[in-house]
Amino acid sequence: MSGERLRDLPPAERLRRLADRAGLSEADRAALAAGGLDAETADRMIENVVGMLSLPVGVGLHLVVNGRERLVPMAIEEPSVVAGLSNAARMLAAGGGVTATATDARMIGQVQLVEVPDLDAAAKAVLEARDDLARLCAETDPALAKLGGGLRDVAVRRLDPHGPDDPLGPMLVVHLVIDTLDAMGANAVNTMAERAAPELERRTGGHARLRILSNLADRRTVTAAGRVPFAALAREGFPGEDVARGIEEASVFAERDPYRAATHNKGIMNGIDALLIATGQDWRAVEAGAHAWAARDGRYGPLSRWRRGEDGALHGTLTLPMAVGVVGGAVRTHAAVRAALRLAGVERARDLAELAAAVGLAQNLAALRALAAEGIQRGHMRLHARKS
Ligand code: MEV
Repeated sequence: MSGERLRDLPPAERLRRLADRAGLSEADRAALAAGGLDAETADRMIENVVGMLSLPVGVGLHLVVNGRERLVPMAIEEPSVVAGLSNAARMLAAGGGVTATATDARMIGQVQLVEVPDLDAAAKAVLEARDDLARLCAETDPALAKLGGGLRDVAVRRLDPHGPDDPLGPMLVVHLVIDTLDAMGANAVNTMAERAAPELERRTGGHARLRILSNLADRRTVTAAGRVPFAALAREGFPGEDVARGIEEASVFAERDPYRAATHNKGIMNGIDALLIATGQDWRAVEAGAHAWAARDGRYGPLSRWRRGEDGALHGTLTLPMAVGVVGGAVRTHAAVRAALRLAGVERARDLAELAAAVGLAQNLAALRALAAEGIQRGHMRLHARKS
């Protein structure tokens, strides 16, 4: 199905063709077309509901991830993002498509311990308690344990005062590293951290304060990589090799300058957030993780990197934490979210994470290519002109 043809159809016909291709049921089609949320369900989701807010859902095309072409549902108000994704996906497809690999779904639950009498002895005692903590976590979430998830690792960090104005002495922070499998995992991790806290107090003699997951999910990351032959980057008046050089220059600019890195990463998150919103994810959690990861070396930098290769192609890679799930939360309550996941062909959390990273890489390429060639405004204006 060509992008051009799809673009010229009315939305209902577009949905019919894409839904046919993804094998969606009548109920899924209706949910996508109508927004998939009734007032009663909405009222059960959050507090003081007075109504609902709609966003357009577009579908990005041509994105090949690990050898499979995907449809990308994207909920977003900003023009050019969906078209940009499809264009860049086509360029990446010319280089063989995107390869994406997610780690296991290891989330971190933090337990803060204050007034610990002997920090070294306490750290040792926590590490020795690993098996007991694993048992406790399994008892807390037997369903997850049965599926093979649960505590994978325990780490102890000592946090010393941060300077003369810091009012407190050293504290100990315990990280419970928990594999949450197909769940985003916030509920499971928070419950386990709360249940583990009294045991940690008992073993360390300290007082447990915060017991909550960390959104810097650096044990649950995803990496996407792709290459684009120079020829596929060419645009009228802009030879592919020049565009590739411009994209490399843009990448290095972001590597050297946090002001540029913030905008570079915003472009990546344009695509990722649109997919996450359409698929009912906690996109604020992914945003928080992405930016904290971008600053993990003490200096904010870009999530992706582009370089010209010896093979006549531009090579890009992107890595970021990706805490997403396909069970629980809005996936359970929201019919359009379930339909969007089916449209994207997503069954497992790992698959959604890999798709999201591929989308981020392609979205970044779309922005950098436009910036390196004709500039972003001309592309935007063309799309605006088409709509009016
Ligand atoms: C606009 O929403 C996103 C861009 O600013 C990203 C970028 O500059 O890389 C175009």
